[in-house]
Amino acid sequence: MSYLFPTYARWDVEPVDAAGSYLTDSEGKQYLDFTSGIGVCNLGHRPRVVKEAIEHQLNRFWHVSNLFASGEQEKAAKKLATAAEMDAVFFANSGAEANEAAIKLARKATGKPKIITFKKSFHGRTFATMSATGQDKIKSGYGPMLEKFSYATYNDIDSVKEIFTDDVAAVMLEIIQGEGGVHVGDKSFLQAVEKLCHEKNALLIVDEIQTGIGRTGRPFAFQHFSLNPDIVTSAKGLGSGVPIGAVLGKESLKAFFGPGSHGSTFGGNPISIAAANATMNIIFDEVFLKEVEHKGDYLISQLAKFFQSNTLVKEVRGKGLMIGIEFKQSIQAILQELRTEGVLALPAGENVLRLLPPLTATIHEIDEFLIHLKKVVEAIAEPVVKA
Ligand SMILES: Cc1ncc(COP(=O)(O)O)c(C=O)c1O
Repeated sequence: MSYLFPTYARWDVEPVDAAGSYLTDSEGKQYLDFTSGIGVCNLGHRPRVVKEAIEHQLNRFWHVSNLFASGEQEKAAKKLATAAEMDAVFFANSGAEANEAAIKLARKATGKPKIITFKKSFHGRTFATMSATGQDKIKSGYGPMLEKFSYATYNDIDSVKEIFTDDVAAVMLEIIQGEGGVHVGDKSFLQAVEKLCHEKNALLIVDEIQTGIGRTGRPFAFQHFSLNPDIVTSAKGLGSGVPIGAVLGKESLKAFFGPGSHGSTFGGNPISIAAANATMNIIFDEVFLKEVEHKGDYLISQLAKFFQSNTLVKEVRGKGLMIGIEFKQSIQAILQELRTEGVLALPAGENVLRLLPPLTATIHEIDEFLIHLKKVVEAIAEPVVKA
C-alpha cells in the first residue's frame, strides 16, 4: 500500500543515480534521459558547476527570509533581466507561482480584470493558473474557476480580436504550447497579439516556464520573433533541478509590486539562487546557445527525414531542443517500448511524443536516441507476426 496520493501515473523506473544525459534505476539498468525532468535539468543531471555552487551556499547559510538584503538575489535578477531585456524580477518557487504572480501584477497594474489565454494552453495547477489553462481535463471536478478568463484559439488572431473587450488586463501565452502538444506559435500571429495588446492598453505576458532558459536556442523563446513582452515568467530550467520560479517585468510595473503587495517565504531561497546563478552563467552564453540551436536543427531534420513516409506519423515540429512528434495513434506503447530499450521520452497529450533532451546532449547521444526510436517505431508499424 502507498501513502502517496495517486496523483501521478508513475513509470516502473526508480532512479537511484543520474549524471549528464543518463539515469540508472534500482535494477542497475541505464537509460538515455530525453525528458530532463520535464524540461528542468537543461544542463543534464548533476552538472558539476551547479553542484559546486549549491555546495558553497550549503556551507554558508540555507535560509534567512526576504527581510534581509541579498546580493546573490540581485545578481540573479540582473542576469535574468538582462537576458530577457526586462527590468525587474520577483522570485517564486515554481512555474505556477510565477504565473500566479504575473496575473496578479497584470490586474493590479492595469486596473482591469480579464485575462485572455488559449485553448490547449497550460499555465499551472493553482486556482488562477488552472483558470488560465485552456484544457478541461486540468479543471475537472474543481469548479467554479476564477472569473474573467477567456480562451482564444492559438495561431488564430481573429479569435483573439473577438474576445478582446475593453476590460482585458493581459493576454497570456506560451511561445510553444508544451503540455498541449508542442504547437509552435506563428511569427505573424504572435506579433499581431502584441500589437493588439498595445492598441488596447493591455499587457502581454509570455509564459516561458518550459520554453525559457535556453531550451529553444535563445535565452527565451520570444526572442526568435522580435517580441517585446511586458511580463515574462520562468521556472523549470532556471535552477537545474532546485525549485525556483521568477516573474520578470518592465520598469513601469515596479510601482505595482511595492513593499507588502506580494511575497513568498521561500521565493529566492539562497540555495535556489546559487543554482540559478550557476545555471545562467553557463546557458546564457552565445556559443552554448548556438550549439543548442545546431543540435535542435540536427535532431528535427533527422526525425523529419526518417518519418517522411512513415504511415504512423503525422508531423514533426518544434524549435531548438523542444520537439514534438505527432502520431496518428496513442503513443503509450511507444513510450513503454522506448523504456524497455533504455530510452526515456515524454508524452504531450495522447498522440504527441515530446522530446526535451538536456541542452548538453551530444550529437552522439542524439544519434543513439534516433537508433532506438527508429527501431521501436518500425516494430510498431510492422509488428512481427509470431508463428
Ligand atoms: C508552460 C508552463 N507553464 C506553467 C507550468 C507550471 O509549472 P510548475 O509545474 O512548476 O508549477 C508548466 C509546467 O509544466 C508549463 O509547462
